[in-house]
Amino acid sequence: QTGYITFDEGFGNTGSCQSEITFINGEKGILRYRGYPIEQIAEKADFLDSAYLIIYGELPTEAERLRFSRDLIKTTNIDTRMVRQFEAFPPSAHPMSILTSMMGSLSSYYPELSTNDRVLDLENFDRSAASAISKVMTVAAMSYRISNGLPINYPRKDFGYAENFLHMMFSLPNDEYHAPKAVAEALDLILLLHADHEQNCSTSTVRMVGSSGANLFASITAGVCALWGPLHGGANMGVIKMLEAIHAEGDDGSRFIEEAKSGNSGKRLMGFGHRVYKNFDPRAKIIGKACERLLEALGTKDPCLEIARNLEQAALSDDYFVSRNLYPNVDFYSGIMMRAIGIPLDMFTVMFAIGRMPGWVANWHEVASAPKGKINRPRQIYQGPLERDLPGTYNRR
Ligand code: SDX
Repeated sequence: QTGYITFDEGFGNTGSCQSEITFINGEKGILRYRGYPIEQIAEKADFLDSAYLIIYGELPTEAERLRFSRDLIKTTNIDTRMVRQFEAFPPSAHPMSILTSMMGSLSSYYPELSTNDRVLDLENFDRSAASAISKVMTVAAMSYRISNGLPINYPRKDFGYAENFLHMMFSLPNDEYHAPKAVAEALDLILLLHADHEQNCSTSTVRMVGSSGANLFASITAGVCALWGPLHGGANMGVIKMLEAIHAEGDDGSRFIEEAKSGNSGKRLMGFGHRVYKNFDPRAKIIGKACERLLEALGTKDPCLEIARNLEQAALSDDYFVSRNLYPNVDFYSGIMMRAIGIPLDMFTVMFAIGRMPGWVANWHEVASAPKGKINRPRQIYQGPLERDLPGTYNRR
């Protein structure tokens, strides 16, 4: 079972595409990055290796890992004129709105990496790939610092990816934040579990835009926009808002479950259900255990975790959810972990974008380097009026 399922070329009338990056079996709850089961990746790899694997197709050798991590450090900083751009946003600007603007502006500051000349953009791919993965982290951290009136921090050469992000987010001028191992590892795992996920809404958006010949930065910016939606990347924020509301009402979750089942309450069990997984999302199993470990390591008692556990147990034994194949997805526990780490709620979807960047980069490259790359052009099922003539009296000319 190679996992290679061939469909029409591009987005043919099956609405699918060919890819060699990530394999999912929704019925069996299987997820593999370039053939490696997510359970093994989560246990033995880290975000850097996973990103390299997803982009280049193999786990890096030590020398390749060193080159990749050096490229990330070299490209982490952003043009100082971009830093000034943050000042232009209103204080109320949503971090995802800032992220879409800043990632889109990369093409302005790094035109040599975004020529829209396919040959040139592919020649510069290693640098643009490293830039996308490193700068998304820098933009996210700087956006948080500047929105909160804090001085910005610059990356450290001796910190890993997750450590550097947390340092850039939380270090103070006279008090550098070097994340405890448990915290850095927890964030690394969250990013790794989000690194790619077949043709989800945002990744297929990146492929669609990339198929037009658009450069990597333009294509991933479109992916960031798609991810913002509450049914996709916004769900992790929705889970915490749901859990906090349940807690505030003194409910242990049982009342909410009944409301979510009634359908007319408009309440959904956020973090449950999936377009593909009609079984457990394998990432949810991994992140649920990691959530317990992190909160124990931090000695944090979060009532939301208790409520989440109650909801999960109740839903998994309730015919409404079981009959509709509704199981926890990756978002159900990730928000509780991010809150324990200190990530502000309105940045949760930004964290999803940081994690998903390797998948977007790899999918753009797969489209851009396709030998007979065609523009994706889905067809439609026309349901409008049949042919008809204009009224005889009608004439605007
Ligand atoms: C991500 O595609 C990916 O790979 C995405 C992702 C990735 O890594 O990129 O995995 C990340 O987006 C995960 C999903 C995050 N979204 C949420 O957790 C939001 C809550 N979930 C839902 O809105 C919903 O489950 C979806 C959108 C995720 C999937 O919807 P489907 O499969 O299209 O299901 P549906 O909307 O057709 O609903 C089927 C039935 C309906 O009831 P009936 O009409 O049959 O009576 O199930 C019900 C729905 O009302 N239902 C839910 C529910 N999800 C579906 N009822 C209560 N709670 C829910 N969460």
